[in-house]
Amino acid sequence: MNIITVKDYQEMSEHAGKLLIEKVNSKRKTVLGLATGSTPEGLYAYLVKKYKEGNVSFADVQTFNLDEYVGLDGDDPNSYMHYMKHHLFNHIDLPAQNAHLPSGTAEDLEEECNAYEKKIEDAGKIDLQVLGIGLNGHIGFNEPGTSFKSRTHIVELDASTRQANARFFDSMEEVPTQALTMGIASIMNSREIMLLVSGEGKAETLVKLLEGRVTEDFPASILHEHPNVTIIADEAAYSKIK
Ligand code: PGA
Repeated sequence: MNIITVKDYQEMSEHAGKLLIEKVNSKRKTVLGLATGSTPEGLYAYLVKKYKEGNVSFADVQTFNLDEYVGLDGDDPNSYMHYMKHHLFNHIDLPAQNAHLPSGTAEDLEEECNAYEKKIEDAGKIDLQVLGIGLNGHIGFNEPGTSFKSRTHIVELDASTRQANARFFDSMEEVPTQALTMGIASIMNSREIMLLVSGEGKAETLVKLLEGRVTEDFPASILHEHPNVTIIADEAAYSKIK
């Protein structure tokens, strides 16, 4: 894994943004894998800024998000579709039909998972997947114990993950208990992966990732086996690495 350390959140976001824009400018029909959460917000703000300055176009890009909550439709302010529109899609020239998320309100969720996986394949594989990491090492909503062979599937969310995400909801009861997520094998199938890690709160997680062994108990550890991963970590996140 290639590790880049930067000063702070702002620098992490800009560095990631530059790499992503380079990719899109070198291949018009780039297929991007996107993530939600607090971590990539700065990256998306940077992309919007560069788009408005005329430095990049997403007109021929396709995007596939990692995950979506079950039970929330795209208009729900807590859905990841809403997050993506708010932070990125509404502000760039990405055609709406090129922006894909699994639907958490599909009638047949199993079928939706299979169809999502097929859509990614039909698009010709993800060229660059953006990832954040959960405190327990989850990537997407793949919690500890998820099979490394998993494809897009339905998950029961960990109590710790629901707790971490409760800040966006009015009460704990409103936090969905299930989500649809790309699997570990779906993520590993991407040509290139960019993992963003920021803040002191993630310092222990980064130690576990870099110094630990590859195990399904810590999903992100599989990234050691991917040929093209870049971790962009800020100083606070990197502070506990020896
Ligand atoms: P965060 O979430 O960016 O909000 O820290 C990351 C994750 O849980 O994957």
